[in-house]
Amino acid sequence: MSDHLDLPDYREQSPEVAARFASIRQRPVKLEVCGLEKRFHSPEGERVVLQDISFKAHRREFISIIGPSGCGKSTLIRILAGLETISGGDVLLEGNAVKGPSRERGMVFQGYTLFPWLTVKKNVMFGLEVSGRSGPAVESEAMDWINLVGLARYANAYPSELSGGMKQRVAIARSLANQPQILFMDEPFGALDAQTRAQMQAYLLQIWKNVDVTILFVTHDLDEAIYLSDRILVLKANPGEIQEFIEVPVPRPRDPEQFISPTFLATKNRLEHLIHPRQPGQEQARLPITKMTAAGDEVE
Ligand SMILES: Nc1ncnc2c1ncn2[C@@H]1O[C@H](COP(=O)(O)OP(=O)(O)OP(=O)(O)O)[C@@H](O)[C@H]1O
Ligand SMILES: [Mg+2]
Repeated sequence: MSDHLDLPDYREQSPEVAARFASIRQRPVKLEVCGLEKRFHSPEGERVVLQDISFKAHRREFISIIGPSGCGKSTLIRILAGLETISGGDVLLEGNAVKGPSRERGMVFQGYTLFPWLTVKKNVMFGLEVSGRSGPAVESEAMDWINLVGLARYANAYPSELSGGMKQRVAIARSLANQPQILFMDEPFGALDAQTRAQMQAYLLQIWKNVDVTILFVTHDLDEAIYLSDRILVLKANPGEIQEFIEVPVPRPRDPEQFISPTFLATKNRLEHLIHPRQPGQEQARLPITKMTAAGDEVE
């Protein structure tokens, strides 16, 4: 993206956006991460993957996590969801230490994780039944969530009959049916084509508007991060540390038309600068190109 565009500073907030952030800060803290560290043991020795990660997520906040491949985004999300142990620091959900997975914390991954032998409705009912409930109340509650993700017509279909986007909507409904305090999403739309992905982003905003849940969302897509989030946590690699925590200055409600607004572009510029910093005087890498004649012979 050009640095010559006359864009505002990404830290500049309209009074309306500043007021929204002031009100988010007043909300209860759902998740608190203090001095989190994660080391992995490998044949070459111990490796620090995450270091000195501290932040808070407030009630009904939408936070995206971005950073270069391998910087530890999935590891961080897995730790917060209780699927991975920590090497140091604390993770608190509503003040209580996170130990192992729990219904309070939902998770949606990139891969489709539905049970192929169960219908959409049974997939959504599964989590509710595991917690010991059964009967018509469970079925009607499952249908409420299926309605919310716009799939009532497919309640009796099997996952193999659904498109990728539909499967992810069922996965979201299934997670939300357990009424988690917090929903972790690790590149949930990464496997979808661009058009379906854009639709899913709009769906997710629509769903989130109607549900009291805090969302932590990992993505590689900068537009997606800005479009969805209140704040964006930018990680750097080796070791994974917080580089910047950006308050997205784009007003809500969000609309795809905002993708070309000055505040959106200013934020994207900043994210690109953080993720792919350009060194002064750095030249673009040149690929060796061999020229050919029309007859297919190489020329010098
Ligand atoms: N179980 C494990 N044992 C050893 N090393 C691991 C383990 N899980 C992850 N790692 C290492 O931790 C680092 C961070 O991995 P992680 O999957 O969290 O990165 P990521 O930011 O999600 O990457 P991507 O953007 O490619 O999904 C990588 O170097 C990876 O090899
Ligand atoms: Mg990952």
